Amino acid sequence: MTANELRQLFINFFIERGHKHIPSASLIPENDPSVLFTTAGMHPLVPYLLGERHPLGKRLVDCQKCLRTDDIDEVGNTTHLTFFEMLGNWSLGDYFKKESIGFSHEFLTKYLKIPQDKISVTCFAGDDDAPRDDEAADAWRELGYPDERIYFYPKKENWWGPAGQTGPCGPDTEIFYDTGAEKCGPDCQPSCSCGKYVEIWNNVFMQYSKDDKGKFTLLSQKNVDTGLGFERTLCVMNNVASVFDTELFVPIIKKIEELTGTKYAEPNVRAHRIIADHLRAATFVLGDDKGVSPSNTDQGYILRRLIRRAYRYLTQLGAPDRSMSVIARIVIENYKDIYPELERNQEFVIKQLDREEELFGRTLESGMKIATKELDFVQNGKLAAAKAFKLYDTYGFPLEFTQELAAERGITIDIDGFHRLYAEHQEKSRVGAQQKFKGGLADNSEETTKLHTAAHLLQAALRRVLGDSVFQKGSNITAERLRFDFSFDRRVEPDELAKVECIVNDAIALGIPVGCAEMSVQDAKAAGAIGIFDDKYGDNVKVYTIGDYSKEICGGPHAANTADLIRFKIKKEESIAAGVRRIKAVIGDAAK
Ligand code: SER
Repeated sequence: MTANELRQLFINFFIERGHKHIPSASLIPENDPSVLFTTAGMHPLVPYLLGERHPLGKRLVDCQKCLRTDDIDEVGNTTHLTFFEMLGNWSLGDYFKKESIGFSHEFLTKYLKIPQDKISVTCFAGDDDAPRDDEAADAWRELGYPDERIYFYPKKENWWGPAGQTGPCGPDTEIFYDTGAEKCGPDCQPSCSCGKYVEIWNNVFMQYSKDDKGKFTLLSQKNVDTGLGFERTLCVMNNVASVFDTELFVPIIKKIEELTGTKYAEPNVRAHRIIADHLRAATFVLGDDKGVSPSNTDQGYILRRLIRRAYRYLTQLGAPDRSMSVIARIVIENYKDIYPELERNQEFVIKQLDREEELFGRTLESGMKIATKELDFVQNGKLAAAKAFKLYDTYGFPLEFTQELAAERGITIDIDGFHRLYAEHQEKSRVGAQQKFKGGLADNSEETTKLHTAAHLLQAALRRVLGDSVFQKGSNITAERLRFDFSFDRRVEPDELAKVECIVNDAIALGIPVGCAEMSVQDAKAAGAIGIFDDKYGDNVKVYTIGDYSKEICGGPHAANTADLIRFKIKKEESIAAGVRRIKAVIGDAAK
């Protein structure tokens, strides 16, 4: 069965049973601050689940693009994905458990022709919030499912939602396909993660709403929200070993084989799958009409993590530069008929992937060298928290990368210690931001603190573009803007200013932690720090380091991370004296 046949079969089945087909909504939820991405078909339907009238009626059917990263560590096995399509049928206060279970049974056994004895189901066991779901279990029994294949589980397994902290939710009944594999032990059952049982469909009986105090109240309308995992079902229908062996992934994996010169076989299977999954997901996020760019916050951050993780595996397997965008083209080609937005936004997708590759390549190269060196020195199989934190804090090397490199060598990391240091660092920069320093910042509001960090980045960028003759002559920061005076003996050309802006914005986009260390003036100089106010300081100075962008003697305070600056924009460049130029710049919303 092809992917398209499966989509169509499902949608037609429900249309024939009185449902109206609704198109997939965007992956970026609208007006729903409770989640970053559409994680299930229910998101776009929340108002209607809560009782609002849907213009197309009470029975709906769809195929929704979804993205979830809670299972990201499972990606690489046979069934888990971050991006996936979810086929769903909906009753908005219309039919309920019995009919919904009847539809699922009919579709699976009569239309997909899955033998009934390959199907096991699970129901909610009941607790203080809601009773045991005998109504659902009885519906299964009536259809001929024996008690041995009807399991009861608590909330953790058989309750769905709310998707964020609050909203519609309820008990569910989940449908599992038995792959026929041996039981992994006497207790092997659908809740087991050994892979024998694959969850393919979830019918949620949304009759409750959870509020921000954790209280469940009955909804005035009883809804059904079902989700049939598209990729998993396609895998079952074609009797292939994993979702990655379906037509949805085969061309992507072929391209990965070609680019890396490695086979989709052990020991590369997991890496190929992660690359394929993450880049398919990234392509859909970037290719959405509401597409976001990689950044350090919210959706952009998740996207960045997906891209960077894929990049790391690609690099490890020896793929050449720009492989990510080559793979994205395959994804677009594969899906453009069903999701035309991908083709519409193709240029954006490619550009963003190439740009992110370039930005990350730089951070990674230096971080990887240093991390490897640190790990080579580990004696007792443990990497101290301080070392891991330094990699993160001073070199901008992501913790999860250090973790993976360590795991490859059988080295463990003191993660609790890392988190303690991280919290201390946050606290220090918070306190720092509130104090007054002799370093010259009269007003230490959060805004001026960030502008101060922008001044360091600006000086570094000017020196990169205009050469080492550039030195700070003075600066003046208000909550609104930064004024920076520096030595230079001619007008700075617009294209040079654009380059400077670009360098600063790259550093912001990279989300580099701002590191601080105390040392003697000599040591600071020896470490290559710059600084013009030598006479203001005692013997020990603070040196602020921003990745490999900037190292400067300074009193502080500074932003904890360059990402806090959001964006940087030069407003004006002028001469104020012979050989001295002045730049005025803004950050944050004012720079957008
Ligand atoms: N909301 C349920 C799920 O995500 C069914 O669609 O599994």
